[in-house]
Amino acid sequence: MQFKTIIEPFRIKTVERIRMSSEAEREEYLKRAHFNPFLLHSDQVIIDLLTDSGTSAMSSEQWAGIMRGDESYAGASSWYRFEKAVQELTGCPYIMPTHQGRAAEHLLYSRIGGAGKVFISNTHFDTTRANIEFSGARAIDIPIAENRDPALLHPFKGNLDTRLLQEKIAEYGAENVAAVILTVTNNSGGGQPVSMQNAREVSEICKKHGIRLILDACRIAENSWFIKHREPGFEALSYREIAQQMCALADGCVMSAKKDALVNMGGFLALRDLDLALQCRTVLIITEGYSTYGGLSGRDMEAIAIGLEEIFEPDYLHYRIKSTEYLAERLHAHGIPVMRPAGGHAVYIDARAFYPDIPLDQYPGQVMACELYRIGGIRCCEIGSVMFGKYDDNGQLLPASMDLVRLAIPRRVYTQSHIDYVIEAFEELLRRRARKTGVRITWEPPFLRHFTAKFEEI
Ligand code: F0G
Repeated sequence: MQFKTIIEPFRIKTVERIRMSSEAEREEYLKRAHFNPFLLHSDQVIIDLLTDSGTSAMSSEQWAGIMRGDESYAGASSWYRFEKAVQELTGCPYIMPTHQGRAAEHLLYSRIGGAGKVFISNTHFDTTRANIEFSGARAIDIPIAENRDPALLHPFKGNLDTRLLQEKIAEYGAENVAAVILTVTNNSGGGQPVSMQNAREVSEICKKHGIRLILDACRIAENSWFIKHREPGFEALSYREIAQQMCALADGCVMSAKKDALVNMGGFLALRDLDLALQCRTVLIITEGYSTYGGLSGRDMEAIAIGLEEIFEPDYLHYRIKSTEYLAERLHAHGIPVMRPAGGHAVYIDARAFYPDIPLDQYPGQVMACELYRIGGIRCCEIGSVMFGKYDDNGQLLPASMDLVRLAIPRRVYTQSHIDYVIEAFEELLRRRARKTGVRITWEPPFLRHFTAKFEEI
């Protein structure tokens, strides 16, 4: 018999208390946080959907691995276990452990970037773009056109536009393209998957022009689930085999282990090319640590090695993807404008469509994030004109292309009743929908303003 209820394929051994609060208390917390959920204290939050990064619950096996961690400075057994796990996944011989994903990005993109270089991606994640631009190079996003329509159904909405790729290579010259980066799944593009077919085509184009292909592999196990279930020819392969096939197409991988490797901190860079690896390793030793631990403790490497096994367990992946889909489809059924189909790690809501009367310079996404907190103590993140908006010469806001709100689901942390609670909060959000005014910024820093900006309600 096929059950309708998706059960969490784990039992709970340790619990972490959630402090409940009243709406009046949350109103006060929100004021003190200047209507910016990033400025809330975590114990003021009931359900925290700010990010799926570093928020996973580790398994009893991983905690056992933590105790086994070998903290020797050089050649620790935990390093060899970690190195083997990453080599098996990526097929790359040269592995560098880093404290998180952006450190791996820095090692690589500071070497191959620089003025006059361009990077082309389905979508660069913010820190990827920042590392590239910091080196003096340009970052160009070319997802397929379907990616830009939140309501349009497409099985691999995270794909890179291969026709545009060839045009961009011709425009900039292959010698100036430092790398093509495939982000799987495509986080900034809605957590949408990339097909193997697309990865193969991108890889062929790169090979033809002698351009490096790098995988941003932080959600590669989730991406494999979509390939197995949506792309013909992969039904019989295991999730791990699918991920290995995709890695085999690339010259290297960067991974933030804080996502699919089920740990709270960590990352790595994996490369095939010895020369480049030696250059990156030099920066690793200067900025992170000696080559057999980099930015990590032995125990962290141990937990990552185990996480890289657990992430491919079929029951886990099935529960993971289906529970994200459950949230997206329930919200859709209530008439909430969600990005469909659901991505792997998060549900994205089109706040601009939800609040058509709130002017864009009053930030409808920020309003939704604040309302969800007020109603249910739910913390989520605006991905719109607060995060990406710029000003013109007259100080008028140039809004982002979309105003989305992201509900990112931590791995193995919340149960179906937590998710049902979130759905109920959205029902109340619908009842309070008739808003015509939003928020204004009272203070903002020059860069990355969404983290620390202060707002007031209009
Ligand atoms: N690449 C992608 C696709 C990411 O989503 C992230 C982080 C990184 C790289 C950087 O990794 O945080 O370990 O340095 N994404 C988090 C998020 C922060 O909330 O989506 P990191």
